[in-house]
Amino acid sequence: MERKKTKRIGLLTGGGDCPGLNAVIRSVVKSGLNLGWEVCGIREGFEGLLKPGKICPLRRKDVAGILHVGGTILGTTNRGNPFAQKTKDGRTVDLSDRVVKRFHSLGLDALIVIGGDGTLSIAKKLSDKGIPLVGIPKTIDNDLSGTVITFGFDTAVSTATEALDKLHSTAKSHQRVIVVEVMGRYAGWIALNSGVSGGADIILIPEIPFKIEAVVEKVLERYRRKRNFCIVVVAEGAKPLGGEMFTKECKETGRVEPLLGGVGQWVSEEIGRRTGKETRSLVLGHLQRGGQPTTFDRLVATRFGVAAVELVAKKKFGQMVALRPPNIESVPIAVAIAKRNLVPLNSDVLKAARALGISFGD
Ligand code: F6P
Repeated sequence: MERKKTKRIGLLTGGGDCPGLNAVIRSVVKSGLNLGWEVCGIREGFEGLLKPGKICPLRRKDVAGILHVGGTILGTTNRGNPFAQKTKDGRTVDLSDRVVKRFHSLGLDALIVIGGDGTLSIAKKLSDKGIPLVGIPKTIDNDLSGTVITFGFDTAVSTATEALDKLHSTAKSHQRVIVVEVMGRYAGWIALNSGVSGGADIILIPEIPFKIEAVVEKVLERYRRKRNFCIVVVAEGAKPLGGEMFTKECKETGRVEPLLGGVGQWVSEEIGRRTGKETRSLVLGHLQRGGQPTTFDRLVATRFGVAAVELVAKKKFGQMVALRPPNIESVPIAVAIAKRNLVPLNSDVLKAARALGISFGD
């Protein structure tokens, strides 16, 4: 590769997609180009550094008109950890040295990695191996530490809230209990925030293992008060007291985290069986990851992109940009991934919900 005159930085998105990724890509590209740098897009996360033909310079016109568009123009994957790459014949191999070598052979000066805890954990290890790297936190789950919020979360909560609004009318018309399973992995943020904003009667989150008897009692109490319908929001990671999280079989090679799911249907069936009421359940699933980012997410993503470029300019590597209102600051990536950001039991939102009579099944 010919010798460059200016900084050349690589940019990739890893893990599950979320609304706002394109906004942050645009922000990094525009602010980088404005400094006279070259920004190279790496396709499909770290896999793009292992395979040929996955890297190309991003021009202004490549990021034009994508601010409000969901998904990521760079593509992403939930598989592909270069430190533990699964081969087709079932072996696990460490390809991280190859990634480091490729980074240098491309003449890159720095890497900006946009990801959640899985992607940023890989980023941290690559940073320890000498790659000058900066992280940007994204995930609808909002489970990264060190930042008040990750972008993508606000849009996911809005989508779930809108779904709850719609479900109210049909639940009421049919006098049904409707159970909605939302994403969030091991954190209950989406369930809690959408449940409160969408007027749920019961919210079940991983941080508060539930008793099905308490859930049933809350349903019956509503019907006794002639409120003849009930909306239950269940986080996919919620579990009964003393029980396990519900998982789904997944045959994808190289997947690190288990696929959660099934608790909503179980809760719905138990309520039906124990109360005799008509119940229905639905899984909002990947709807929560799609669509246009909210204004909030676009703004945070844009600010994160500019802040990441500034960190590269200042050579502050191994750091992740973070929202610490009113500012965007930075924290070591190690801090962001050290522990999951779960809903604290003294959360103000939890308190508000309880004050309104919302049950958490405890
Ligand atoms: O981490 C984001 C997330 O959407 C989780 O909420 C969910 O458990 C998981 O990803 C789903 O993964 P996949 O897109 O591989 O089905």
